[in-house]
Amino acid sequence: MHSNKVFVLGAYGQVGRSVCRVLLEHTDAAITLGGRRIEKLESLAQAINKPGRVTACFADACQPESLNAAFRGMDLVILTATARNCIEHVSRACIECGCDYMDTLETEDVVLALRKLEPEMQRAGRLFMTQCGLSPGVSAAMVRHAHGAFSRLRRARVATAFSFQTIERKEQVYDLFEFVVKNKPMVYRDGEWRRQSLSEDCVVIDCGPRFGRRHAFPLDMIETRGLPAALNLESFGHYVTSANRFVDLAARRLLTTLYRIKPRLGWAVLAALSLWLAKTQREPCGGAVVVEADGDGGRGGRSLHLLIDVEDNYLGVGQAVVVVARQCLADVFRGKVGVHIMGELVDPDRTLADLAALGVPCREAWRTTPLADGWQAR
Ligand SMILES: NC(=O)c1ccc[n+]([C@@H]2O[C@H](COP(=O)([O-])OP(=O)(O)OC[C@H]3O[C@@H](n4cnc5c(N)ncnc54)[C@H](OP(=O)(O)O)[C@@H]3O)[C@@H](O)[C@H]2O)c1
Repeated sequence: MHSNKVFVLGAYGQVGRSVCRVLLEHTDAAITLGGRRIEKLESLAQAINKPGRVTACFADACQPESLNAAFRGMDLVILTATARNCIEHVSRACIECGCDYMDTLETEDVVLALRKLEPEMQRAGRLFMTQCGLSPGVSAAMVRHAHGAFSRLRRARVATAFSFQTIERKEQVYDLFEFVVKNKPMVYRDGEWRRQSLSEDCVVIDCGPRFGRRHAFPLDMIETRGLPAALNLESFGHYVTSANRFVDLAARRLLTTLYRIKPRLGWAVLAALSLWLAKTQREPCGGAVVVEADGDGGRGGRSLHLLIDVEDNYLGVGQAVVVVARQCLADVFRGKVGVHIMGELVDPDRTLADLAALGVPCREAWRTTPLADGWQAR
């Protein structure tokens, strides 16, 4: 008998597969692989091959009756399927079946859709953790960890660098394109979030030894939107950079311009080009999450650089998700119900320690000097 039952919806997707493998390795839960194509679920169950621990079950996020049948008896549902328009079905099924919920989805509409059902979640006493993974997910926890390392944290910025190398399908690139064209470049200073223009928003960030110093552009991320006010920061920004300059350029200027003419115009060509460049050019694989911060009373110096660097970013996402799933199953979040963004919910120090124990350390480097002036987007 396994003490916990976990359902992974979207199990044969790239994030889903990684979550399932890490769950198998680092928990003793019984795992049900869920999705729309039973033959793919069964071949994944065979590939990860733990008889008695892994089963396959049809579940379509857009078909409520399939979810109610699938989730019955589960403790935790982990949604890794890109089924953003079906969040209400998935969350209602979790409430009805009495399970907690996690997702790895990045967009704000998911959080808003979940919040609509908050009263029902509260009544049912169920916990809904959204924006789980490395970034979003661990990134906000790293900023909070940095906050704890100063008596007064003044400035911080977080950046995610990632490579297209490990992406398998162009639909995943479309997902990223959609995120970029719908997102607004924002930075926080003088007590408020300000919109940046395309010409003034690029900064250079030290993304660690593999990715090096890279141009990065700011995003508006719901995960970190509340942090500057909550942590009383003077300035803050949440940046992203890919491993390839062309991809960044395409992602920003070309995509934005084309999108104004017609949604999805040129995406097939740009996605194919981005994937081809990632495979043919020698860019580092995987990804990095970086926090740069300075303030007063730092425990190791005047400014701090935090780095999580993973050569397989999908494995890294799986490890981050499983760290929080394990905390949930161990009742660490007892008393917490309703919708919570992972990076705000978790204890940052414990979560970084748990992640390090799974082989993903957060490297901490202190400097005696403050961050250079002008480091923040103007
Ligand atoms: N937080 C982070 O750090 C982080 C990092 C990477 C990715 N992500 C996010 O994680 C999500 C998954 O990414 P991915 O790269 O794994 O994508 P993926 O490989 O395309 O996998 C998505 C899976 O969702 C399934 N799916 C779609 N609609 C479904 C439905 N109605 N019911 C059941 N399954 C459905 C698809 O299966 P079918 O064959 O049935 O269509 C597919 O296998 C994305 O939203 C991505 O943005 C988060």
